[in-house]
Amino acid sequence: MSERHVVLGVTGSIAAYKAVDLASKLTQAGVSVHTVMTEAATQLVGPATFRAITGLPVSTSMFELTNPFSIEHISLSEVADLMIIAPATANVIAKMAAGIADDLLTCTALATRAPILIALAMHTAMWENAATQANLETLQSLGMSFVGPATGRLASGGFGAGRFAPVTEILGVALGMLGANGDLAGRKIVITAGGTREPIDPVRFLGNRSTGKMGFALAEAARDRGANVSLISGATTLPTPAGMNVHSVGTAAEMLDTVEAVSTDADILIMAAAVADYAPEMRASEKIKKEDVDLVLPLNRTQDILNTIRDVPIRVGFAAESENLIENAKGKLVSKNLDLIVANDISRSDSGIGADNNECTILDASGNQESLPLMPKREAAERILDRVVGLLSAK
Ligand code: CTP
Repeated sequence: MSERHVVLGVTGSIAAYKAVDLASKLTQAGVSVHTVMTEAATQLVGPATFRAITGLPVSTSMFELTNPFSIEHISLSEVADLMIIAPATANVIAKMAAGIADDLLTCTALATRAPILIALAMHTAMWENAATQANLETLQSLGMSFVGPATGRLASGGFGAGRFAPVTEILGVALGMLGANGDLAGRKIVITAGGTREPIDPVRFLGNRSTGKMGFALAEAARDRGANVSLISGATTLPTPAGMNVHSVGTAAEMLDTVEAVSTDADILIMAAAVADYAPEMRASEKIKKEDVDLVLPLNRTQDILNTIRDVPIRVGFAAESENLIENAKGKLVSKNLDLIVANDISRSDSGIGADNNECTILDASGNQESLPLMPKREAAERILDRVVGLLSAK
């Protein structure tokens, strides 16, 4: 995301303080954030806050003399790869729908040729007003994108539609828009994540320690490189990422059905999920009561998903191993006829399953072996996708 510029327009909704978090997360993602605030927004949050968070000047007026830009709204509109208006009040939407440009923010919005993302925030009654809905339709017909509003508790104390969407959701959509022309643009990628759960009875299951972090990191990285992402997730406590199709599944059989259904026109399948190899033969319909004798639970083999789905052009597997890492990974690469396999040593506590970092080795079908040092899973995801992009261009 470095060299990408966002103009963040902040308007006078109480959710303006949440825009600080958005500015921070965009900055952390490497994006240069140029903040433009309306006069009303400055009553709620200080421009100095955005300047400190983004490290860039904040503009509040058409007539500032201290700023390096010559004609402020034109410079801002031209520098933008994306303009985000967050929070966007009913008032600013109305002005934009009418083409009104009476302050720096609306002038910039009218002048920019960059895509515009609008994160709505207003009171329910204003949101539901026919004038607001008509303005929304106008802006939609002009090709603008929207996030929210969410439903929940409002600043007025009431409950309803109008809340500013979660910052992670706005961030996800924004990064997806910024990456729209990335090296995976136009590619459909199916990624599995998390562990499957095989029910024993209504309250118990056979599961594993997978948290889904690696698969989610891959899905977010692929989204930010322009891919159309389908994320098929088993058990996880991670927040649902924005800007992709997310399918939640329980068992290995459900995961297989979903992968089969969504991968028909996919270019890439990455199986990062920890799929159960065995499932209880019978699922008790009532809770199993303890008895004085030991319980033996018959298990049946589940179907191997990667081995079954063979017609996706690029297929990538993970090998979770506690011994003979490379040898076992090579065996899986060959037996499942994969293009790449990512070998993880699961005996370490600082890497692999559940950890935030991963030290892995990528093996390919031509016999090449690339060892990656310990790094955050997001970085490892980028390195894996670099290899996928290489394979796509070679095919
Ligand atoms: N996998 C799969 N379907 C299964 C089991 C595994 O698609 N029923 C995929 C995993 O998502 C991973 C790869 O196959 O990408 C290897 O999984 P792993 O659990 O390491 O190996 P297994 O093939 O299950 O073999 P073993 O458990 O004996 O190591």
